[in-house]
Amino acid sequence: MISKKIRKELIKQLNREFYSAYLYLSMSAYCSSKDFNGAAHWFKLQYEEEHQHATRIYNYLIEQGCSINLEAIDKPPKEFGTLLDVFQASLEHEQFMTRNLNELSNKALKKKDHASYNLLQWFVNEQVEEESTVMEIIAKLKLVEGDGYGTLMIDNELSTRTLGTPSDL
Ligand code: FEO
Repeated sequence: MISKKIRKELIKQLNREFYSAYLYLSMSAYCSSKDFNGAAHWFKLQYEEEHQHATRIYNYLIEQGCSINLEAIDKPPKEFGTLLDVFQASLEHEQFMTRNLNELSNKALKKKDHASYNLLQWFVNEQVEEESTVMEIIAKLKLVEGDGYGTLMIDNELSTRTLGTPSDL
């Protein structure tokens, strides 16, 4: 059984993961509207991945016998600027998520809640990968900034992204 405080914090994190999914779906729609179909595909998979993150927390809370009061999900923005701006907004959002996960990990440790801490370490590690992937895309977009052909090449590369379902979900 986990403490009331950690349960509340995990439900907040669950909401943030759903918001992330929603944000990336909005980014995908925006990219589609600009005919960046590779980026639209990439963000659509990012939406699905965030949904998996939310499910991971949800499953854990259920396993711990917690009651779950779901909160409303905030409305995401719908305009993002250039393709580079979209990925920069994505990076800023992931950095925000990392800060929250680090704080939440500290709280779990303080409560000597090692089960929740373990769950959170999975997320902390995932953030390293997520930030690094987005930073790489940003670096490429900066290299070709202003060059239509280069941007289309990157958009094409983004269309090759795949996503599986983790076996533990
Ligand atoms: Fe689940 Fe990208 O944070």
